[in-house]
Amino acid sequence: MLIKKTRGWEIPESRVTPEAVFLNRREILAASGLGLIAASLPGMARADDDPSAGLYPAKRNDRFVAGRPITPEDINAHYNNFYEYSTDKDLADAAQALKIRPWTIAFEGMVEQPKTVGIDDLLKVMKLEERVYRHRCVEAWSMTVPWTGFPLADLVAYAKPLSGAKYIRMETFMDPDMAPGQNQPFYPWPYVEGLSMAEATNELAFMVTGVYGKPLLKQMGAPIRLHTPWKYGFKSIKSIVKISFVEEQPLNFWQQLQSSEYGFWANVNPEVPHPRWSQATEQVIGTNDRIPTQLFNGYGEFVAGIYKGMEKEPLYM
Ligand code: MTE
Repeated sequence: MLIKKTRGWEIPESRVTPEAVFLNRREILAASGLGLIAASLPGMARADDDPSAGLYPAKRNDRFVAGRPITPEDINAHYNNFYEYSTDKDLADAAQALKIRPWTIAFEGMVEQPKTVGIDDLLKVMKLEERVYRHRCVEAWSMTVPWTGFPLADLVAYAKPLSGAKYIRMETFMDPDMAPGQNQPFYPWPYVEGLSMAEATNELAFMVTGVYGKPLLKQMGAPIRLHTPWKYGFKSIKSIVKISFVEEQPLNFWQQLQSSEYGFWANVNPEVPHPRWSQATEQVIGTNDRIPTQLFNGYGEFVAGIYKGMEKEPLYM
């Protein structure tokens, strides 16, 4: 993720320009080669140290067709955004400090009864499936990922929100000892994201607990994250510990940091540029391909209806 360079103390220029712009052919090839070596490094999936390992792989749901080759695991595992650990993409080693058990998720706000559940108890009551989704980052790169998880709609039903709830607000853990990035006071920790109830209960919104047929990798937001494939990647909050149902639209992490560049809705649209770069195309990570970006990342048939009558809202930032 990128923020505007306004003051010298913020971040270096290399971090405020889309990574994809810098990725020339040679670097991409080098990255692919590096991936092969990385297969034996600590950032790769090690299902044996996760108590949920026996739940994977889950059956693939063929309703969701990505239409692109899956990004190789060794490349995805070393190209991540997880600012709690680093602003560099290869943060796999740093993210191994994330302690994923015990792990609880609290349900709060406008619910029949607030409650807290342990991740393994939640996994016992949710039916896991695999979905291959396209993932489009606001930085103009993309991947195709075989996530395992369950519909967010099932989690909403489990939480029993009151009818007055208009939005769902999700929060990442806050523990600067475990996540050194959270010692940087410049950022509005903890990471927060939100969806409208119509979005949260849309069949595409997916809670992810696994990837590549194994438990979710730490650098990808273990033990539980969101994936909303029609939105820019920053909406897909990682390592969630709290879910609240609220009446007011939540302010997300990036909005708090730079509201002129990042908004609440953040739906993918090639025709609405980011204030500092075009969103017309995307670099497919692990390849030399730069391809046209699609409205709603190609998922319009599932989600376009949500936004009917909302044309005055800033739906694409
Ligand atoms: N969630 C948290 N808690 N912290 C982050 O820095 N980065 C977001 C999103 N969720 C982020 C986060 C961004 S900008 C993107 S593109 C995706 O995670 C990246 O997911 P990936 O690393 O699995 O590709």
